[in-house]
Amino acid sequence: MTQFHATDNRYENMKYNRCGNSGLRLPAITLGLWHNFGDNAFQDNAREMILGAFDLGITHFDLANNYGPPPGSAESNFGHILKSDLAAYRNEIIISTKAGYRMWDGPYGCGGSRKYLISSLDESLKRMGLDYVDIFYSHMYDPETPLEETMGALDAIIRKGKATYVGISSYSARKTREASEILRGLGMPCLIHQPSYSMLNRWIEPDLTSTLVDEGIGCIAFSPLAQGLLTDRYLNGVPEGSRATNKQSAFRDFFLKEDVLERVRGLNDIAIRRGQSLAQMALAWCFQNPSMTSLLIGASRLSQLEENVRFVENTEFAQDELADIDQYAVESGINLWAASSDAG
Ligand SMILES: NC(=O)c1ccc[n+]([C@@H]2O[C@H](COP(=O)([O-])OP(=O)(O)OC[C@H]3O[C@@H](n4cnc5c(N)ncnc54)[C@H](OP(=O)(O)O)[C@@H]3O)[C@@H](O)[C@H]2O)c1
Repeated sequence: MTQFHATDNRYENMKYNRCGNSGLRLPAITLGLWHNFGDNAFQDNAREMILGAFDLGITHFDLANNYGPPPGSAESNFGHILKSDLAAYRNEIIISTKAGYRMWDGPYGCGGSRKYLISSLDESLKRMGLDYVDIFYSHMYDPETPLEETMGALDAIIRKGKATYVGISSYSARKTREASEILRGLGMPCLIHQPSYSMLNRWIEPDLTSTLVDEGIGCIAFSPLAQGLLTDRYLNGVPEGSRATNKQSAFRDFFLKEDVLERVRGLNDIAIRRGQSLAQMALAWCFQNPSMTSLLIGASRLSQLEENVRFVENTEFAQDELADIDQYAVESGINLWAASSDAG
């Protein structure tokens, strides 16, 4: 394996947005390791995507304790690549991980308790071979744990030096406000919220967006391509190796329905008129949201990332284009994560 040297011009084409009121700037595109980085993935391809992403200016990599399969393997595999290729660049990289969904058996293996969050992060750090992560998230709101306890655990994690910033994922607007207040009281502002969001999934628009802006919390939207639906992947059927062929994913049952595909074809026609791919338009569109800091995408090959980062070439939308998009995309019924299903 040849020694990796990052390209000198890697910061030239990526935009870095300030995350809420913080001093941290995140790339407009972040790479998530939920799919295609576990032990079931080709490791040479995973390495090529991570190093290729870094060369494209993608400085932020998003993980969680349970990413795999098996759970934990995405962190271990990422740790190997960090050690073999990116050790010299650690200070140029933002690494996030999370805990919340089920990770191990018994009463301490999921949720928002202090016991689970602190032990889980310790395990994540071991798997990745790190002393600290840059961002640690409460992966989901746990109604059975007092919010003070979950936020207190995030605060403790920072004070132990095991994370630099903290965030929350998929919390409602109301719980976000409460969490933010508690963290502010502890002197540890909430850096970021990670909700699902795309042209087809707009649950954050009525309340959460304004809450994030008011609270000065950044937003990183996950699945902005609706897991691949908002690309050309499924325009002509279901290709071999695509996420829809993965039996462990609920994606196919939820998304690949004829009425949804009809909408996707309509959106694709708009993208063609704009002179960009559907994926690029889907990403550009998300930045219409005033809270948006970064878009958290997945990929199964480097060429997808190379295509996607070029969304910056056309980010302006005319009013009639936005109205046309709404005609196909509003009330699509696709709201997988507000309704929460398979654990990402
Ligand atoms: N906080 C949470 O609860 C939560 C939940 C889910 C996800 N996440 C985070 O969000 C990240 C992204 O989620 P996601 O993977 O669902 O995001 P996504 O960007 O909506 O979907 C990624 C998939 O779209 C397809 N794709 C991407 N670019 C393409 C292109 N140019 N042309 C054709 N197909 C393209 C690929 O599918 P194929 O694999 O089929 O090629 C890729 O795996 C995850 O890795 C994770 O870090 C967080």
